Amino acid sequence: PRIFVPNDATAIACGADRVAKRLEAGLLARGITADITRNGSRGMFWLEPLVEIETERGRIGYGPVTPAEVDELLHAGFLHGADHPKCIGVVDELPWLKKQTRLTFARIGIIDPLSLTEYEAHGGYRGLKRAINLGPAATVEEVVDSGLRGRGGAGFPTGIKWRTVAAAPADQKYIVCNADEGDSGTFADRLIMEADPYCLIEGMTIAGLAVGATKGFVYCRSEYPLAFVVMEKAIEKARMAGLLGDNILGSGVSFDMEMRMGAGAYVCGEETSLLESLEGKRGLVRAKPPLPAHVGLFGKPTVINNLVSLATVPIILDKGGKFYRDFGMGRSRGTMPIQLAGNIKHGGLFETAFGISLGELVNEIGGGTASGRPVKAVQAGGPLGAYLPVHQFDTPFDYEAFAAKDALIGHGGIVVFDDTVDMAHMAKFAMEFCAHESCGKCTPCRIGSTRGVETIDKIVAGEKREQNLALLEDLCHTMKLGSLCALGGFTPYPVVSALTHFPEDFGATPKLPV
Ligand code: NAI
Ligand code: SF4
Repeated sequence: PRIFVPNDATAIACGADRVAKRLEAGLLARGITADITRNGSRGMFWLEPLVEIETERGRIGYGPVTPAEVDELLHAGFLHGADHPKCIGVVDELPWLKKQTRLTFARIGIIDPLSLTEYEAHGGYRGLKRAINLGPAATVEEVVDSGLRGRGGAGFPTGIKWRTVAAAPADQKYIVCNADEGDSGTFADRLIMEADPYCLIEGMTIAGLAVGATKGFVYCRSEYPLAFVVMEKAIEKARMAGLLGDNILGSGVSFDMEMRMGAGAYVCGEETSLLESLEGKRGLVRAKPPLPAHVGLFGKPTVINNLVSLATVPIILDKGGKFYRDFGMGRSRGTMPIQLAGNIKHGGLFETAFGISLGELVNEIGGGTASGRPVKAVQAGGPLGAYLPVHQFDTPFDYEAFAAKDALIGHGGIVVFDDTVDMAHMAKFAMEFCAHESCGKCTPCRIGSTRGVETIDKIVAGEKREQNLALLEDLCHTMKLGSLCALGGFTPYPVVSALTHFPEDFGATPKLPV
């Protein structure tokens, strides 16, 4: 039989390597020949390590499996899909998976990440082949038609960005993938690199073909050593197979790519400081304009996209822009890999069309808090995203609906907190985070964040409360409007939302929800 034991960082952290070793030893001792495939996680992290067995009924899952349980499972006949307290049945039939619309993450957990044969058997390289037939201009228009917007958080239309770079005259252009996934509670970029690396390679190749760029770089955060290694192996295998380099698939298209490792600075997820860092300099933010689309890496026109945006391009080219655009709501088209984290019972990755409500995500999909206590708030969109209280849980997951509530969907991360969280502490943390990560280029962020920490301390201590609250409000306003980039500019979101929705945590009498 074929057995699957995930090999991504989450599963390994949960003990998947030890489970795989015990399984190998157990099979050897019993003289059983079986193929253990190290796949990626299906995204149901509370079930990791999730061991799956291929059977006639489909893939039967057992999880979470501890190394000590492996022998017992072998004895119980799990290789034939036998019943057991740890058996969760046919994995594809689980409501968590059935409720999803997996487009970008269609292959995650299904295939052997480094097998090109399996990648192609599951739809891989169909998008690139179609792009080659369409040619550059029609490929760009297909992405424009799809309505795909930047999945890093800003939501700028990807196709329009590509159009700008395609129209820029230059002897050299670049594709840069932003894999500096620094937002709290997010792991979508990592999971793609570890579990479906060719999808990113294909997406970047299509981007190169579309805008006339022959070279790509993936800027991977230093905290993702495993993803880095998997990507390097995949790039090498793609090169050997003629899927990178000159004359890709005999089409005359040239594109090659390399991995680059960051050094742990959150601000290097900001596109211009990322480019500085890629050029070997300190990660200082550049003023815009000029946009990277005009003057980017090494001064050349550059497409810089978030990893999920690039990994979504293959399916758009394969199935067409219209197919993708048909999912979603309003101006938020297609699907979003939502990452449920923090104090949540069922944490993991849930890809769904835009429009699902925050309440459904947290309470129904996520099953509420892991602690069993009532949910107090969620932070959406990373450490600089707003806190949303329970009375805003009817908000649909949509760029504009979140913006209307002074919140952002960011990179799709949702971090859940129960009623024991102290929101004044969280507001202070946002300022501390900004002070720690600030690149130091502009005053509102560099100095404002430190003054913010002090002012919140004074408010909580009851020192000149009203004056300090007014000062904090004024400071947030200045940081929002006067900062050069989103780091300083977005820090006020968690602070102001915490103050607005949870004034009691700052020592005030609670107000009715607004
Ligand atoms: P932005 O709105 O300045 O730009 C968005 C993108 O569109 C950029 O790539 C920009 O170069 C491009 N662009 C804008 N106008 C264009 C035009 N006319 N033609 C071609 N390209 C154009 O936003 P920014 O500063 O890049 O990102 C802010 C966002 O980053 C926030 O909304 C936040 O959600 C997100 N963020 C994400 C993090 C993560 O870990 N993924 C971490 C921190 C923030
Ligand atoms: Fe640097 Fe902060 Fe200014 Fe951004 S807002 S440029 S991180 S100092």
